[in-house]
Amino acid sequence: MSKNILVCVAWPYANGPFHVGHVAGAYLPPDIFARYHRLKGNNVLMVSGSDCHGTPITLAAEQDGITPQEVISRHHPAFLKTFEVLGITFDLFTQTYTDNHYEVTTDIFLRLKEGGYLYKERMTGSYSETLGRFLPDRFVEGICPHCKFPRARGDQCDNCGKLLDPWELGEPRSTIDGAPVTFRETEHYFLDLAKLEPALREWLDSTDRSYWRSNTVQFTQNWLREGLRGRAITRDLEWGVPVPDDDPVFKDKRIYVWFDAVIGYYSASIEWAKRLGEPERWRDWWVCNTDGSSPARSYYFIGKDNIPFHTIIWPALLLGYGDRVLAYDVPANEFLNLEGDKMSTSRNWALWLPDVEERYQPDQLRFYLTANAPEGRDSNWSWSDFVRRNNDELVATWGNLANRVLNIAHRNFGQVPDPGALQDVDKQLLDAAEEAFTTIGELLEAVKLRSSLQETLALAQRANQYISEQEPWKLVKTDKTRAAAVIYTGLRVVDNLKTLFCPFLPFSSQQLHELLGYEGTISPQPYTEEEQAPDGSPRQVLTGKYAGEAQWQPSALPIGQALKAPVPLFKKLDDSVVDEELARLRQGLETTRKC
Ligand code: MF3
Ligand code: ZN
Repeated sequence: MSKNILVCVAWPYANGPFHVGHVAGAYLPPDIFARYHRLKGNNVLMVSGSDCHGTPITLAAEQDGITPQEVISRHHPAFLKTFEVLGITFDLFTQTYTDNHYEVTTDIFLRLKEGGYLYKERMTGSYSETLGRFLPDRFVEGICPHCKFPRARGDQCDNCGKLLDPWELGEPRSTIDGAPVTFRETEHYFLDLAKLEPALREWLDSTDRSYWRSNTVQFTQNWLREGLRGRAITRDLEWGVPVPDDDPVFKDKRIYVWFDAVIGYYSASIEWAKRLGEPERWRDWWVCNTDGSSPARSYYFIGKDNIPFHTIIWPALLLGYGDRVLAYDVPANEFLNLEGDKMSTSRNWALWLPDVEERYQPDQLRFYLTANAPEGRDSNWSWSDFVRRNNDELVATWGNLANRVLNIAHRNFGQVPDPGALQDVDKQLLDAAEEAFTTIGELLEAVKLRSSLQETLALAQRANQYISEQEPWKLVKTDKTRAAAVIYTGLRVVDNLKTLFCPFLPFSSQQLHELLGYEGTISPQPYTEEEQAPDGSPRQVLTGKYAGEAQWQPSALPIGQALKAPVPLFKKLDDSVVDEELARLRQGLETTRKC
């Protein structure tokens, strides 16, 4: 039976390009997961979009002397380009700056208000005298009252994970200009989290959540331990979703970016259904069954800094709204460092996607970012490790296996040979390859992507060993019957590995699919195309549904199928790449220093 799988992906602020840390932490993992489920024949809906509101956007606009809309139209197309190049296959990657999103957000706000989950209160806001306006919490920095960390932010301490209010900080100052921050009174809407707490706890305790990652559990527990209290969900800002309240006090206020951003998962699903011409389809992933059970499983792929918004705030909003499917899992990732140092946009210590995506094959990047994913702990991008893993694992283990098996098969038979009788050693390898669909499938389902890739690689390693031991290149001269059995076995295993690797390495798997003599696509994807919007900016258009059938199943390679002349799947990298790339990074640092 097909399952409905909702793949929700963190909404990136449209204020700058992606670096490899973003892709490793939030964008590649959901794509691997979604591709796996599509191959299984499940109904996948994978959504996200540009997070267009909040100070990250207004600040970028001020710095460049342009409007927030212009900031978005600079960066949104670059996101789409990176997704296309890396093969990250959203069903819809939209924006929060759309009429649909504004409507849905307003609807949720009003429904929560009607339900008594929102209240108005006067509060103290952080005010910058130098800028003459209120500052968002995260632009206030000071000493953490709990752990004394000197650079705690006004919303949260990154050191001890505790939630903060800016006035709790010692020596509060603005991160924009370093000037001291004062506090002024202002009125806002609050989300009554205390009122939602019993329902939230009931949901969290309703099933065994031991499959959640430990960082997800930790950050959630920290919030709960402190007790849930009201959180302001409006801000003194001019950019964002207007507050649906006629009181003139709210004219210069907007809904808080975090309140509207998490709603994006829901509004994007509605937008997807509208664009598809089946406006009710989103319900399959979102509306609970009449008995309260879920027709779908939803997964939220995010970085660790976003956890409580997805395990507390967003579920609380949905509980207040009523009858909506809550997260099944929130597989949050840790951070990816670069050459041992934390990535930093301001220091330009980062690998920018628009840059590296030109120089390497997408599968090379996908491979390294998965083999080295920040899953469970911080990890590190190092160029020497990149070159080593590319050459020793991707090329030597997988690429070479496929290449030498195809080569010898093509040269000696030109087609899939008839194997005759198989020996035990052949059958054992084929059995192992078939079992892998279960074991690796389970790991993928549990979002253990790093180990699922390792397991797949281990199978390729085993197949290599088999080929080395059987020496088919000698057999073709001495025993053509046995050669046919070994080559057939090798081809079948390669055919299986093609599918097993497909969620991780979709481009090379497709190429291999064709070399093995198949037609069509191994991994059917949603049809999305880019089109010019009236204002000239590109946008995605849905042109249909999936083509093809479920393919997460063992190879049934037909005997006699014509093979194509093989070409190497992956490029070997010269050691000089390491020095070149390190020099580029250093140069990047100098450009920042000069300006
Ligand atoms: N824009 C936020 C960030 O980059 C992430 C938002 S995830 C969302 O940290 F779902 F809440 F939008
Ligand atoms: Zn702290």
